[in-house]
Amino acid sequence: MHTTPRRTFTQLAAAAFAHKPLGANDRVRVGIIGCGGRGRGLWRTFLAQPDIAPVAACDVYEPFLNRAIQMSGGTASGYKDFRALLDRKDIDAVIVAPPDHWHAIQTIEACRAGKDVYVEKPLCRMQREGRAMVEAARKHNRVVQVGSQQRSGAHYHHAVGMIQAGALGAVHHITANWTRNMMPGFRPVSPLPVPGKDLDWDLWLGPAPEVPFDPLRCLYNYRWFWDYSGGQMTNWGAHSLDIARWALGAKAPVSVAAFGGRFAIRDGGETPDIQQAIYRFPECIVSWTGREVNAGKTNLLEFHGTKGNMILTREGFEVTPEVWTGYGQDGKTAAMAALRESGGNLDQLHIRNFLDCIKSRKKPHGDIEEGHLTATMCQLGNIATRVGRVLNWDEAKEEVIGDVEANQWLFQPYRKPWSLT
Ligand SMILES: NC(=O)c1ccc[n+]([C@@H]2O[C@H](COP(=O)([O-])OP(=O)(O)OC[C@H]3O[C@@H](n4cnc5c(N)ncnc54)[C@H](O)[C@@H]3O)[C@@H](O)[C@H]2O)c1
Repeated sequence: MHTTPRRTFTQLAAAAFAHKPLGANDRVRVGIIGCGGRGRGLWRTFLAQPDIAPVAACDVYEPFLNRAIQMSGGTASGYKDFRALLDRKDIDAVIVAPPDHWHAIQTIEACRAGKDVYVEKPLCRMQREGRAMVEAARKHNRVVQVGSQQRSGAHYHHAVGMIQAGALGAVHHITANWTRNMMPGFRPVSPLPVPGKDLDWDLWLGPAPEVPFDPLRCLYNYRWFWDYSGGQMTNWGAHSLDIARWALGAKAPVSVAAFGGRFAIRDGGETPDIQQAIYRFPECIVSWTGREVNAGKTNLLEFHGTKGNMILTREGFEVTPEVWTGYGQDGKTAAMAALRESGGNLDQLHIRNFLDCIKSRKKPHGDIEEGHLTATMCQLGNIATRVGRVLNWDEAKEEVIGDVEANQWLFQPYRKPWSLT
C-alpha cells in the first residue's frame, strides 16, 4: 500500500492556512475517499478542473487506490484509513464515494474536520443518518454537495421551472421507472479482491454487521444487500424521485405504499428485483417501478399534466401536448405547444457548482437538506416494502405515524466501535 507519513513538515506548515476562505483564483485542495467506479469517474472530472489540487486518495481496496493515485500523476498521497486522510489540515474538500453504509460517518467526520464535502447519492442508508449529516454540515458551516448531478443540469432547471409555473397544466401524476433485464443475476466484479492481501474487509464493512467475505457483497454489487444499501429504489430512485420531489416543491410524501421482492434473480442478493412504490402527495401521485427481470419499454421519468406530458431524461426533455376530448372540446386543438430541449454534461456542471460554492460559501445545487429529503423518500419506499403496509409520514417529526416497527428501520445500530455521533 502506498502511504505517506501522516504529518510532514509541509502539511503542518499548511495547517496554519487550512481555514482561510478561498478566493476565486485559489486552488481547492481535494482528497477522495472511495476510489471505485463512481469515485474514479468523479476524480477524473475534478482533475480536469483548472482550480483544484489533488492531494490525497483513500480506499480499502488497494488496486483502486493505486489507480486513483496514478490518475493524479502521483501527486495524491494514498491512505487506507479515511481518518488519516481527514487528519490532514491541508485539504479543503473531500469526495465521499464509498458504498452507502459509509456515507454518514465519513461525511460527518469530514465536516468536523472542517472540510467541504461532495458526497455521493443516495445521501445515506438510513433516515436518521441523513438528519445527523444535515446537522453536522450546518453546525460546522460546511458546503455539502450531494452527488445528484441532475440538479445542476440547465434542462432540469428549465423543466422544473416550467412545471412549477404550470406550463404542463396541473401535474397530478409522475411516473419514475428503472427497468432492464439482469437475468439470471449479477456476478462479482473481477478480478476478485483478496481480503487480507489487497482488501481490508473489516474496514470495508465498518458499521455494518460482521460477515465472512463474499465477493458479490463487495465491489459494485453491495447495492443488492440491505446492510449496505437499498437496491434500485435508493440507487436510481435517488435520481428520479429527487427531480419529482423538486418539481412538486414538496419536502415529503404524505403516505407511501409499496410491494416487491427478489422474485426471479437468483444470485444471493437481497433487495427487490421487482418493486412498485406509490407515494401520495396532497394533489399528486408519484409512482416508482423497479424491474430487473424484463427491459420492456418505460421512460425514466414522466410528468403527466392536464395540458401536456413531459418525458425527462439526462439527454433532455420532450413535451407532447394534450388534446382535450372532454365536454365542449373539439378534440383537435392542442392545449400547449410541443417542446424539446437537450441536456449537457451533468457531472462537469455539478462539480463546477461545488467548487464555485466552496469559494462563494453559497448553498450548492444539491444541498445536503435536499439530498436528505430525497433519500428519506426512497428509504420509506423500502420500509413500506419490508413491513408490507401503508406508511403515513409525519414530515415535521420525521417519523412514521403510529408504527413502531416501521420506525425501527429509520436507524439500525452500528457495529462497534462505530457510532453516528
Ligand atoms: N451520481 C451517480 O450517478 C452515481 C453513479 C454510480 C454510483 N454512485 C454512488 O457512488 C457510490 C459508490 O458506488 P460505486 O459504484 O463506485 O461502488 P464501488 O464498489 O465500485 O466503489 C466503492 C469503493 O469504496 C471503497 N470503500 C469501501 N469502504 C471504504 C472505506 N471505509 N474507506 C474508503 N473506501 C472504501 C471500496 O473498496 C470501493 O473501491 C455509491 O454511493 C453509489 O450510489 C453515484
